Amino acid sequence: MKSSRRRFLLGAGSLLAYPLLGDAPRASPAMSMPEGRMAPQLAEPSKPLVNPATLARFVDALPIPPVARADTHRTHPAYPGRQLPCYRMDMRAFATRLHRDLPPTTLWGYQGSFPGPTLEAMRGEPFLVEWANALPSRHLLPVDHTIHGAEKHQPEVRTITHVHGARVPADSDGWPEDAYPPGRSLLCHYPNAQDAATLWYHDHAMGITRLNIYAGLLGAYLLRDPEERSLGLPAGALELPLILCDRLIARDGQLYYPVSDDPAAPWVSEAYGNATLCNGKLYPYVEVEPRRYRLRLINAANARHFELSLSSRRPFLQIGSDQGLLSAPLERMRVELYPAERADVLVDFAGLDGQSVELRQPGEPILQFRVRNGGRRDAGAPPIPSTLRKVPRIDLANAVRERILTVGEMDDANGNAMMMTLGGHHWSDPITEDPMQDSTEIWSLVNLTGDAHPIHLHLVRFQIIERRPFDLFAWNERKELKYTGPGQPPPPHEAGWKDTVRADPDMVTRIIMRFEGEPGKYVWHCHLLEHEDNEMMRPFKLLPRA
Ligand code: C2O
Ligand code: CU
Repeated sequence: MKSSRRRFLLGAGSLLAYPLLGDAPRASPAMSMPEGRMAPQLAEPSKPLVNPATLARFVDALPIPPVARADTHRTHPAYPGRQLPCYRMDMRAFATRLHRDLPPTTLWGYQGSFPGPTLEAMRGEPFLVEWANALPSRHLLPVDHTIHGAEKHQPEVRTITHVHGARVPADSDGWPEDAYPPGRSLLCHYPNAQDAATLWYHDHAMGITRLNIYAGLLGAYLLRDPEERSLGLPAGALELPLILCDRLIARDGQLYYPVSDDPAAPWVSEAYGNATLCNGKLYPYVEVEPRRYRLRLINAANARHFELSLSSRRPFLQIGSDQGLLSAPLERMRVELYPAERADVLVDFAGLDGQSVELRQPGEPILQFRVRNGGRRDAGAPPIPSTLRKVPRIDLANAVRERILTVGEMDDANGNAMMMTLGGHHWSDPITEDPMQDSTEIWSLVNLTGDAHPIHLHLVRFQIIERRPFDLFAWNERKELKYTGPGQPPPPHEAGWKDTVRADPDMVTRIIMRFEGEPGKYVWHCHLLEHEDNEMMRPFKLLPRA
């Protein structure tokens, strides 16, 4: 049965990778299951895949996505009497080489680019974007019509864009069910009324987000403000957005998205690639001066998390997380990013003239920095301030409500249906999270699964209170939330403003936020895109303040 198959696929979720794909397609050895259990069936790739380890390293220059330019000025009813800059973003199919020695790959990208052009915003300066779907009518990747929202009667290709981390009114937030087919477009408005942060935009269409993003529909959105500017951080050519994601690539150059062995229900629980792309290239290099650089690291992968380090054994100086600057810079040898998380880091190449430094994850280089010999130096550059901004802790006593929300895989009453759910509900169940505008709430995410899930709330920024171990048995038997140890406060790099939080297994991850923004319907979800597409997403409704 489909439902139980899904269950087993999910249970082995983290095993559904192709850790070491050789030259020929073969079943992953990790797929064999203990006797007596139904084995998950990840289909063998239908065509031979590229083994990235066989490709030459650092032969392609790192692409820097172009900065988007506003084409026109337009009015919008939300900003009476004003002319706002308006950007047009066409989503198109195009082909490009992911590596010098691979045939061109067909991708989908905003303005025919992957990643799409970087949108640059300044706090207090709203703008409009017309997101136009100019894609073909057939999907590039295998759609699972048994997934809610992707049924056969729906147009196969639908898109809607969400700016991740932006406080945007509901009508421009990218409601998944408002996704529209090729030939249509949607005008959205972005108030940019929030602190500077590394945001990103990506597709959010109901039931096919994982495929649309995998196909390339994503880009950076850098929101700036005068406070941040006054810090004198590296800018211009010294600031690089680095958008990371993993893919499987067939030897004919085309993207390969993993599927189950049931062609009628191809969904798999997590899609991992074996090739890590940085700004859309495999093993690129970039020439740098022996100076300090600012890197905007964005994890845009479907399911992969990255543990980044530098081969120079020098630390990153982390200055920001999802929602902007930390209170103080932090030296970090490794930066871990779960899907959709961001890190804003400084890296100093001073004294490394003529050398190269790799940005790495365990077992694999991602990007090579080539430090110019006798290049320009940071003579007289301002030191990095020891405090960046105030991040006042939200007082727990301000919370008007604590919601206990499970992150789970659950059976139905008959004990056989598979649900990947939040709060035990399906997407289409009535709304249960309905915070009041400007109120403060605590959400306690009770992870009942064996995996970490990056949980993201639209509209708001939040703070992590703690992760606290609990008694899973007591929950499963009696729905009793019994803590088994003290709460662990977030480490300093997670103590700033966040919009995506890793909910660890065996833990209750508690976050607190004030629901600022316009009333309306928004979503919260797991950012493992395969989970998000298969019910691990829920609406929430922001009620107007009384
Ligand atoms: Cu990054 Cu709801 O998304
Ligand atoms: Cu998940």
